[in-house]
Amino acid sequence: MSVNILGIESSCDDTSAAVISDGCLKSNIIASQKVHEAYGGVVPELASRAHQQNIVPVVSEALRQAGIGMSDISAIAFTRGPGLLGSLLVGTSFAKGMSIGLNIPLVDVNHLHAHVLSHFVRKSPDDEVPEFPFMCLLISGGNSQIVVASSPSDMRIVGKTIDDAAGEAFDKCAKVMGLPYPGGPHIDRLASAGNPKAFRFSKPHIPELDYSFSGLKTSFLYTLRDNLKDNPSFIEDNKEDLAASLQSTIIDILLDKLSKALDRYPVEHVAIGGGVSANSGVRNAVDEFCRRKGVKAWIPERAFTTDNAAMVAAAGYFKYLDKKFCDLSLPPYSRVSM
Ligand code: KG4
Repeated sequence: MSVNILGIESSCDDTSAAVISDGCLKSNIIASQKVHEAYGGVVPELASRAHQQNIVPVVSEALRQAGIGMSDISAIAFTRGPGLLGSLLVGTSFAKGMSIGLNIPLVDVNHLHAHVLSHFVRKSPDDEVPEFPFMCLLISGGNSQIVVASSPSDMRIVGKTIDDAAGEAFDKCAKVMGLPYPGGPHIDRLASAGNPKAFRFSKPHIPELDYSFSGLKTSFLYTLRDNLKDNPSFIEDNKEDLAASLQSTIIDILLDKLSKALDRYPVEHVAIGGGVSANSGVRNAVDEFCRRKGVKAWIPERAFTTDNAAMVAAAGYFKYLDKKFCDLSLPPYSRVSM
């Protein structure tokens, strides 16, 4: 009999369900919440309500596309944290309810582990996956970390941001340029037509392998403020160059520490994950970086960069095989290291 893992993700503003059968992806449904666009950021209460509306149809569609029924599910893997507590509570409660109703095991998944393990979402048994140990640059709206993964359950954060995440740098700078939320994809699009050397923004001097993006944000703001005095249409006239220069500075900051991390922890496989790994400039730069360093690069499919249940099911599959099940009494958590 096949092992069918139903994955459920509800940590932020995407409700997602996926089915992995014997290690291969059969469906991955994502309902993104448009309701937050008007507010320029995720509103937690609205996110929880939208999850409640979305979760039943999203899970039903994931099962339908996978061609399986409820009685075929072997275990339910769900994101237990970190994330927004109200949002997590919806997925957690739903997963627990299904587990009781179907009398099948529950597997709790750390959302950050799932991003790192997104490279193990196979479409066919022949698909290649990274070799342990590997390094993952995990860059999203809430995190910027360098992780060394020695096994699916043994992950160590060797560097992390001390203030903003890379995604916040994209989103906050985009916001002051008047771009819609989330701004990352808009900066990406504009940057492709701009000159990355047109503007110089400050780079941080942080010891060890940690990141900082708040100084870059301030430097970006000062550039706008100083230039808007003489030219009120400065942003509109220079939006491509501003975007390209911002993006290339973020990439330089990311790669500088990744390079130091690789010197300290020499591994042969380097991956990226999280929403910002959808950025075209980041993807090209990491690919090129890995070629220069002689290591294998793992660049995820764009569908698996932002929050999705496929990666949760993949992480859950590892735990299922190890029989690491979770107790019904375990609550969701908003914060965790790893
Ligand atoms: O992993 P993710 O979906 O969830 C959070 O941690 O919230 O990441 C979302 C982040 C946002 O900051 C968004 O602007 C950024 O990923 N992002 C991008 C791109 N696509 C998404 N940033 C730069 N370029 C992109 N193409």
